[in-house]
Amino acid sequence: MVFKLSVGLLALATLASAANFKRVACPDGVHTATNAACCVFHELADVLQTQKFDNQCAEDAHEALRLTFHDAIGFSFMAGPSQGTGADGSIMLFEDTELLDGANNGVDDAIDNLRPLLQQFPISAGDLIQFAGAVAVSNCPGAPRLQFMAGRPNATHPAALGLVPKPEDPVDKIFARMEDAGFSPTELVSLLASHSIARSDTLIDNRQAVPFDSTPFVFDTQVFLEILLKGNESLPAASGEAPAQVPNPLAAQGAMRLQSDFAIAHDPQTACFWQFMVNNPNAVAGGFHDAMAKLAVVGQDTSKMIDCSEAVPIPVPAVNKPATFPAGTGPELLQLSCNSPFPSLATDPGKATTIPECVDGDTNLNDCPS
Ligand code: HEM
Repeated sequence: MVFKLSVGLLALATLASAANFKRVACPDGVHTATNAACCVFHELADVLQTQKFDNQCAEDAHEALRLTFHDAIGFSFMAGPSQGTGADGSIMLFEDTELLDGANNGVDDAIDNLRPLLQQFPISAGDLIQFAGAVAVSNCPGAPRLQFMAGRPNATHPAALGLVPKPEDPVDKIFARMEDAGFSPTELVSLLASHSIARSDTLIDNRQAVPFDSTPFVFDTQVFLEILLKGNESLPAASGEAPAQVPNPLAAQGAMRLQSDFAIAHDPQTACFWQFMVNNPNAVAGGFHDAMAKLAVVGQDTSKMIDCSEAVPIPVPAVNKPATFPAGTGPELLQLSCNSPFPSLATDPGKATTIPECVDGDTNLNDCPS
């Protein structure tokens, strides 16, 4: 099966079109921009990096990325705009209503972190959410530089409850929900690269920051590999939202696995694409770039928007480590639902160790146990 990557072409096209524009000096006296409307985002990027994310791919960055999805998915082709207008900031503007949906548990952290910036910068809530997500991702080694289009009008009403997929939902229900917002099952797989930099704060009793893979601070392909490993049935599921979880091989190391991720990894419509992602960082980054570009403008009229992608920082370099079976696991644990050949991967040496809870050198005390 051949999956085309467009990220390289996109990068060339962006360079070529940027060269056609004369840059304007921004009022802050610091930045220049291809379009004066992008100046505010250059300034905002600096503030996000220094005051909100500490230039880290840590908790606040992860939460900002999750918020992009929970805002944008509030859209339904079938039900029409009265039920939500997509990436429109409604989750921030109508938080009291949208957070009645249990699928939005935990997104208040990102809303509280980002909302004060609406007082500081003359931008809409939808632009703030999608831009913050793109800046956040740039801190994660291996992530692509995401596109950012500016110009979302503020939402005038909340999205309907029930539009955000839940981890306990059957896979067909999740695919149908995503299709109703314009995404194919394989585009969903591409979006789920986000779970490579993700941890749960709400699903397990008395525990926060429970990672979905062994490398939650690196945008890599480990999550695609680790979800294909047989779960450890002998360890009791952690207490909490039981239907949201399925057994996983790294429970003793502190990880958890979402039922939804597991089901999508094994569904006949997506199993081969999921498997194709393992140890294929270009496919993961390219697919994520393209699917995020689509997610960020759900429900929006892009003909009225301005491309301010240049204000998104250039991502930190990739770690460039091939995917490996975490110590204590190995190929014997593979549970495959696709017949394509599986890549030959090494196993990390040594004993299984607990997954780190914070990034090395993290200055945000909220992310690191003292
Ligand atoms: C089938 C679709 C999806 C389901 C069911 C799902 C479910 C979840 C759940 C239950 C959590 C844990 C929340 C918590 O307890 O704190 C989570 C975390 C996360 N999700 Fe998803 N998700 C989906 C798709 C996406 C997409 C499309 C994105 C981004 C484009 C995304 C980004 C994230 C991130 C970054 C986190 C980690 C947040 C943190 O570490 O604080 N998810 N997701």
